[in-house]
Amino acid sequence: MTIINVAASKVYDVIIKNGILDDLGERITGLFGRCTAVIISDDNVFPLYGERVRKALKKWDLKVLELVLPNGEKSKSIATYAEVMKFLAENKVSRSDVIVALGGGVIGDLAGFAAATYLRGIKYVQVPTTLLAAVDSSVGGKTAVDLDIGKNLVGSFYQPSLVACDPETLTTLSSEVYRAGCAEIIKYGLLGNAEFFSELAKVPVKEQYEKVIATCVSMKRDIVKRDEFDTGKRQLLNLGHTFGHAIEAKSDFSLSHGFCVAIGMAIISKAAVRKGICDKSVSEAVVSILKKYSLPTVSPYTAEIICEAVGSDKKIFSSKLNLVVPEAVGKCRIISTPLFEIPGWLEGMEVSAK
Ligand SMILES: NC(=O)c1ccc[n+]([C@@H]2O[C@H](COP(=O)([O-])OP(=O)(O)OC[C@H]3O[C@@H](n4cnc5c(N)ncnc54)[C@H](O)[C@@H]3O)[C@@H](O)[C@H]2O)c1
Ligand SMILES: [Zn+2]
Repeated sequence: MTIINVAASKVYDVIIKNGILDDLGERITGLFGRCTAVIISDDNVFPLYGERVRKALKKWDLKVLELVLPNGEKSKSIATYAEVMKFLAENKVSRSDVIVALGGGVIGDLAGFAAATYLRGIKYVQVPTTLLAAVDSSVGGKTAVDLDIGKNLVGSFYQPSLVACDPETLTTLSSEVYRAGCAEIIKYGLLGNAEFFSELAKVPVKEQYEKVIATCVSMKRDIVKRDEFDTGKRQLLNLGHTFGHAIEAKSDFSLSHGFCVAIGMAIISKAAVRKGICDKSVSEAVVSILKKYSLPTVSPYTAEIICEAVGSDKKIFSSKLNLVVPEAVGKCRIISTPLFEIPGWLEGMEVSAK
């Protein structure tokens, strides 16, 4: 078991422990006393783990409510958010009750935003069941839903009261969801921990879940502590995401987020070599580790199309964006870049498969 304490606007523990699903009743009553626990989950995760969580909560005499939503990004919508609000109100959920977000990043972001706003804020516990949620989205308090014109456009910073991560739940992930999570893990190594990066190249993530999750969560904890509200250092976590998001949006979200981040990391590393910011060995190491995890390293779109998509990414409300650029494996720099300079970063580069 590993416990990582996060000290943001709220102080809470991230507990990584095999079998922690069965302890949830004890942990929640320990924190909040007897209350109603509202499990929000999706229709892949709930059939796998819902019964165990329900049993664990009932064992400690908690009243349990359950809301199971369709899996996938489409559930991170205003319509589903409204459905959650209605469910909470109709069931008279009060400020002394707690939401239990059981699922991946979609459920975590949606349930977190519901918790942030229902009755102006009720408590919530994150129970991440994907690798991405375990190492990234369940920690740090970014909650959101999407609008048609862009992802995460409606949300808030709202920290959970507990993150209970059970690595055993990761054994049921599909290969694609597993590999997408590995891309975000490789990102942590590249942005700030060279030793971790080379460890990942030697030992597969699935053979060292607890250690890997603990390393990433510790790094995220340190970043969130310094910049909870994302005005500076937290943007380092966007490594690979500028071009990644553009490719993801261009594919109309048919390519998974993690896969696009992998391509984004390969592109920005190669661009950094061309700009003389890092050595060629860095981009070679990045491409090599991504290939080891069967992640894509080239884009289905040309440099021109990617740059166009960066420009039309609705999230950019200014004429500048912050590019996160590797200087070495384990060291990255944020470079504020006017939009018109973005094509210059990819000029003449072979970013797509021939
Ligand atoms: N809040 C943040 O800081 C933050 C950070 C990164 C990403 N995100 C968000 O996270 C979301 C992506 O999260 P995700 O990749 O976890 O996607 P997801 O929640 O859609 O999960 C991926 C798929 O895996 C299934 N699944 C989940 N757990 C499973 C398990 N244990 N066994 C079998 N199947 C399982 C889900 O039902 C889903 O079909 C995006 O919306 C992204 O914007 C948020
Ligand atoms: Zn990401």
